[in-house]
Amino acid sequence: MCGIVGYIGKNVESVVIDKLKKLEYRGYDSAGIAVNSPTGFAVFKAKGEIKNLEKIVKKTDTASVGIGHTRWATHGKPDEINAHPHVSADNRWTLVHNGIIENYSEIKEKLVGQGMTFYSQTDSETVVKLLQYYDKGDRFDTISKTISALKGSFALAILRAEDNKIYFAKNKSPLYIAIKDGEALLASDVICFKGFAEEYYVIEDGEYGSVDGNALIVKNEFGLVGKAPVELDYDFGDVENVYDHYMIKEIYDTKNALLNNYEYYSNGNYKKLADLDVSCFDKVVFVGCGTAFNACLVGAKFFKEKFDVDCFTEVASEFRYSRPKLNERSLVILVSQSGETADTLAAHELAKLNKAVTVAVVNVEYSTLAKAADVCLPIKAGVEIAVASTKAYSCQVLTLYMAASILEASSRREKPNFDQVKAFLDGLSFGDTELFKRVSETIRYQQKIFMIGRGADYCTANEASLKIKETCYLNSDTYFAGELKHGFLALIDEMTYVVVFATEKEVLAKTISNAEEAYSRGARLIVFTCFDDIDKSFENKCEFIIKVRDIGSGLQAIENIIPWQLIAYYTSVSKGINPDKPRNLAKSVTVE
Ligand code: AGP
Ligand code: GLU
Repeated sequence: MCGIVGYIGKNVESVVIDKLKKLEYRGYDSAGIAVNSPTGFAVFKAKGEIKNLEKIVKKTDTASVGIGHTRWATHGKPDEINAHPHVSADNRWTLVHNGIIENYSEIKEKLVGQGMTFYSQTDSETVVKLLQYYDKGDRFDTISKTISALKGSFALAILRAEDNKIYFAKNKSPLYIAIKDGEALLASDVICFKGFAEEYYVIEDGEYGSVDGNALIVKNEFGLVGKAPVELDYDFGDVENVYDHYMIKEIYDTKNALLNNYEYYSNGNYKKLADLDVSCFDKVVFVGCGTAFNACLVGAKFFKEKFDVDCFTEVASEFRYSRPKLNERSLVILVSQSGETADTLAAHELAKLNKAVTVAVVNVEYSTLAKAADVCLPIKAGVEIAVASTKAYSCQVLTLYMAASILEASSRREKPNFDQVKAFLDGLSFGDTELFKRVSETIRYQQKIFMIGRGADYCTANEASLKIKETCYLNSDTYFAGELKHGFLALIDEMTYVVVFATEKEVLAKTISNAEEAYSRGARLIVFTCFDDIDKSFENKCEFIIKVRDIGSGLQAIENIIPWQLIAYYTSVSKGINPDKPRNLAKSVTVE
């Protein structure tokens, strides 16, 4: 979600815009830049895509320092006024902000009482006004006083008129800095450093400071902080795209991503995980948001099957407020593609506060969550750009599956055997594209889609439904098939499509009966199954039957989701939606 950039060097406007483009995939609704100029700051802002900003920016030879922002509005609508950078009334300070200032109305009220006026609806403007308010000449003192007054999350890149430096501060939003021969780059995502520097500095919570082309000064409440650079040795993967959209590219990347994942763990890269003994824990809690939460639902099933331990799943945004009983005998597994999701990070913080052992299942290996957890399990999916998570979900499920196998084998002092995984991956295909297109042509017109299933099928239904909601803007809800008659049967009529996930042998007959109940009330059926022996009279009642392989293991969850990712993609495109950037959504949700 959103991004900030700061740059010191030459061709400042072009570099800042170029780096902002690297952050586009995170989702945003407006963008802006500010650079120094002989007459004060030159500020440009535009609603919508960066290309709108690019059209209005006047490039100069004179600018030596600049900051840029992609905004995902939290406070105030996405327009030019609310877009960042924000500027103080005395024109001495300008800044870009990622995050949320929770006590902004309090601060605003105080400053208005002091005679200040506000031009935007943002929480961020209060920060720049506070800088002006506290400014008695000493830059660090001003910044320190300002951030001490703030509650919430922030990554700030700040310019002060007359100074050829970028000032910065951080709390609970990522911030990184790289310096190279008179140039400096500050960014909220390490991906910006690709091609710029081979190492970078990580700014931690509570730190603030300044950077110019040669030196970095970092302070915290105790004084100066020494920083060692970190090597930029991440494989950012292949982000070039020959397809129409990243979403379809990433669905097709799935097989390779899963093979990478399989190879990584088959090569024994699991020492820290294998050192954990599940029998030492009273409970295992799986935490994540959105798609990552749906992977948690599946992961908990893998652990329940293999271990005699209580397994729970919790949505990260609820976790902190659900008074979870955690201690050193709790294992908390946090799943996050980005590793920067604010709710998941907050859940991790709570888990650590209670001395639980934490495992992070992440895609971005340099992310905050990856670094903070006791054990990090990379999912090896490669960069995922489309907002709708596809290959990362499949890799999360595979990682959790392999993790359960590794822990089970290590409890017997054996090596895990992944032959079954390899056989599954070798046979993985993308199914009957023509059928998926026909299904999408039907569902694109529907107002009411219900997805039902039992057991692991319910988890797949949840993820399929999320894909349909976010990329097709269709009302698609998920229900446990057995819950049908406990309420939502009342919603069923001839205008309702019920998608029946039926790949769980043990409950197949019951799921089919639930589908019959819906059909008798007028529902139109799409059945998704891996079995050939479904009753013919039932099959005749279905408008579509989608068949996949019968995998006979938890890996069925991966087999089952790919067709729905494709159906969601085709539906989205046929509705004229850009599936890579659904309205109102961001790739990485760095605010709570
Ligand atoms: C997935 O399609 C969604 N865009 C969203 O639910 C996402 O999975 C969620 O925000 C969690 O993100 P994370 O995996 O980066 O933590
Ligand atoms: N809360 C700020 C705003 O709404 C910053 C949002 C962001 O991080 O993009 O302007």
